Amino acid sequence: MKVIVIGSGGREHAIAWKLAQSDLVEQIFCVPGNGGTANLAKCTNAPMAVEDLEGILRFAQVQGVRFTVVGPETPLALGIVDLFRSHNLAIFGPDRQGAQIEASKAWAKELMAAAQIPTASYGVFDHLEAAIAHVRQVGAPIVIKDDGLAAGKGVTVAESLEVAEAAIAAIFSNPHKRVVIEQYLTGEEVSVLAVTDGKTIRALLPAQDHKRILDGDRGENTGGMGAYAPCGWVPPQLLAQIQTQVLEPALQALQQRGIDYRGCLYAGLMITPQGNPQVIEFNCRLGDPETQVILPLLQTDLAALLLACVEQRLGEFPPLAWHRGAAVAVVLAAQGYPGSYQTNKFITGIGKAESQGAIVFHAGTKIKDQTLVSAGGRVLNVVGIGEDLTEAIAKAYSYLKPIEFEGLIYRRDIGKKGLA
Ligand code: AMP
Ligand code: GLY
Repeated sequence: MKVIVIGSGGREHAIAWKLAQSDLVEQIFCVPGNGGTANLAKCTNAPMAVEDLEGILRFAQVQGVRFTVVGPETPLALGIVDLFRSHNLAIFGPDRQGAQIEASKAWAKELMAAAQIPTASYGVFDHLEAAIAHVRQVGAPIVIKDDGLAAGKGVTVAESLEVAEAAIAAIFSNPHKRVVIEQYLTGEEVSVLAVTDGKTIRALLPAQDHKRILDGDRGENTGGMGAYAPCGWVPPQLLAQIQTQVLEPALQALQQRGIDYRGCLYAGLMITPQGNPQVIEFNCRLGDPETQVILPLLQTDLAALLLACVEQRLGEFPPLAWHRGAAVAVVLAAQGYPGSYQTNKFITGIGKAESQGAIVFHAGTKIKDQTLVSAGGRVLNVVGIGEDLTEAIAKAYSYLKPIEFEGLIYRRDIGKKGLA
């Protein structure tokens, strides 16, 4: 069958790479894809914007595509699933209403409160004065969140009232804004990505992202500078608790709202010092860079799994099978990221890394005049797989050595937290 993967990041390269291994999949179109998917077996890039819903629909119809996998949140929030469903085309991802679980933090918090899902206490404010009065009453540290999609830049963990008030003022400097103000939680973060067909929900291996730009979790927030899976410090009993206290109640609450959610539900969790899960956020899609470490460990056929979700057969689907060991992805980024950075830098050494055993998932890359150049802030994900986390870390860092482009930066401590 023919499938479409929508998106252009490391996550989408990993999805396409895993789908390409399936005997069910004959051809993959990556919309718009990147320099990595351009060279992937069975895969062709289709240059369209991810927001061009009508264009992608026509393309799927003309090509006779069996099903479509949506990578990023934007097309989901715009309603690509509603559009595809109205034309009887199979698509993996929630509809526009379901995507609100990520697109509106206030909506997500309300759902969590109604379903009694453990999460930070919160308030929602539509006016600057009321929001400021609230933070003055509660005090710092406190967390300020833009209600809407903000490409990972909508959250301020404010250590002081000054920072909190500045963050609130910045959000309300735009018209029609709404802010969510949350209790500050401490603990260790973990991402639990689950797949659902709207009736059954199954967690994938837990993974941990590294969101800050600098070693030791310092500096600015980014889209994610690396990840590892599984998380040895998340015991099976805690995963069972996440299943019954977070994933299942969330799915039920979605059903009660009449939402037929067939896709990925990603729970970003804080595990408190007492060992209990608290939801920091839900996302309506797979995580990036978590996907880049989860899918290489998945033994189950991804095309069969996603199709079972779309066709509501997840309940009868066999248990997920995983490879032994651990995976680590180190993101190679461009100097200046997450601020301004340069692109169009020649990239060399990937072939050498791959010949040593690396899996290299491209993010911001493109082919220009038949050579590979950088085209984004996060450029590559270098993945190492080992018998255990220690070996996976050593491999990832050894693999990335031959890779070069001008201004290349990366964190030196990806996965270290998982060893503690
Ligand atoms: P988000 O953009 O929602 O992924 O949030 C970015 C980061 O802010 C999260 O990964 C957490 O590290 C932090 N964060 C969000 N909410 C809270 C909270 N209630 N308490 C502490 N940290 C938080
Ligand atoms: N890894 C964070 C995210 O995908 O939102």
